[in-house]
Amino acid sequence: MKLTLSILKADVGSVGGHTKPNDKMMDAVRQDTETAIKSGLIIDGWVSHTGDDIAILMSHTRGPDDTGIHQFAWNAFIKATEIASSFGLYGAGQDLLVDAPSGNIRGAGPAVAEVEFDHEPGKGNRVRPAESFMMLAADKCGPGAYNLPIFLGFADPMYCGGLMLPNMVQGFTFHIIDMDNTDGDSIIELNAPEDYYRIAALLRDNERFGIDRIYSRTHGQQAAAISAQRLHSIAGTYTGKDDPVALVRNQGIFPAPEELTSPFAKAHYVGGDARGSHVMPLMPVPINTAVTGIYCLPLVSCTGFSVDSEGHFSDSFVDFFDNPAWDVVRTRAQEKGMEMRSQGWSGAAMLPYTELEYGGFRTTVTGLVDQFMFRNGKVEDIPAEKATAD
Ligand code: 13P
Ligand code: MG
Ligand code: MG
Repeated sequence: MKLTLSILKADVGSVGGHTKPNDKMMDAVRQDTETAIKSGLIIDGWVSHTGDDIAILMSHTRGPDDTGIHQFAWNAFIKATEIASSFGLYGAGQDLLVDAPSGNIRGAGPAVAEVEFDHEPGKGNRVRPAESFMMLAADKCGPGAYNLPIFLGFADPMYCGGLMLPNMVQGFTFHIIDMDNTDGDSIIELNAPEDYYRIAALLRDNERFGIDRIYSRTHGQQAAAISAQRLHSIAGTYTGKDDPVALVRNQGIFPAPEELTSPFAKAHYVGGDARGSHVMPLMPVPINTAVTGIYCLPLVSCTGFSVDSEGHFSDSFVDFFDNPAWDVVRTRAQEKGMEMRSQGWSGAAMLPYTELEYGGFRTTVTGLVDQFMFRNGKVEDIPAEKATAD
């Protein structure tokens, strides 16, 4: 069968600030997901939160961008919003940016990552005898937060020794999206290893370019899907950070979980954090972690699943970052965070002005810029046509 995995994720309200959804919201979304399984809309579903973002993971046979799947998630988020409002929670409905999207909800606020593939597991299937995948969910960070770790996991043998194996030695194709282009999905396809430096040249800019998909060059199969959209480009104003999700198929023809998660040991600096305006390290955390750290701290969770021949998720899941090994990384992330916080608002500690463009910070800065004058009292010489146009 052709199986689709979908994650749809939204921040629709949280307790005591931008921390976590309340239990009643989670229960309602879980209940809706159970109903969707019973009705046959989806084969399986699983609900979690990372910080204040609720993620619905689903398996189904309806393909990506399916109206039924997207509308189901949207309605579940609406219900959770109503619960958030009734309890007076913060930011109720924050990521639901349009009134009632028809069809798929890409571009309407929630983060979406979907991957479709032929699913015929079993010993006879030499390429994919078993299907396993990981779901990544991040809070308090921009859409390019995965650029570095996912690139390293799929393109650098220093992190993924498996790249030297026959199934992977030809490398992977990266689809990179230009998130500044709001006319549509503007994509470039680049191949690792030969385009390594070109890919790096784009991905170093986490605020503009993001990995959208990754494909195996040996088998043509899609390995990963990442939500790479900027909320402020959609909303025209700052509403919250983009907080990306990703689906990454693993093992066999793809990197193994340990190869994919090892780059997260860097706790690399990303844009986001408090008011979506700072630069702080990305801390790997167990699922269902609230954001209560010192000055937020961007968070990422990573859960693993297997899929049976009918498309059901394994009876249990694995929570990759819920392991004492990651405590060392968490301590390191916190130390890196405090180091950065020690310089407060100065320079690299906050995002550049262009990234604050739509936020309240800009209002403060432009209000001051308007009051600048030359020291001799001379007013800036404005060309006549500009003066009248203003
Ligand atoms: P969220 O995007 O997770 O709501 O966070 C917004 C924010 O400003 C945190 O300080
Ligand atoms: Mg929030
Ligand atoms: Mg959030």
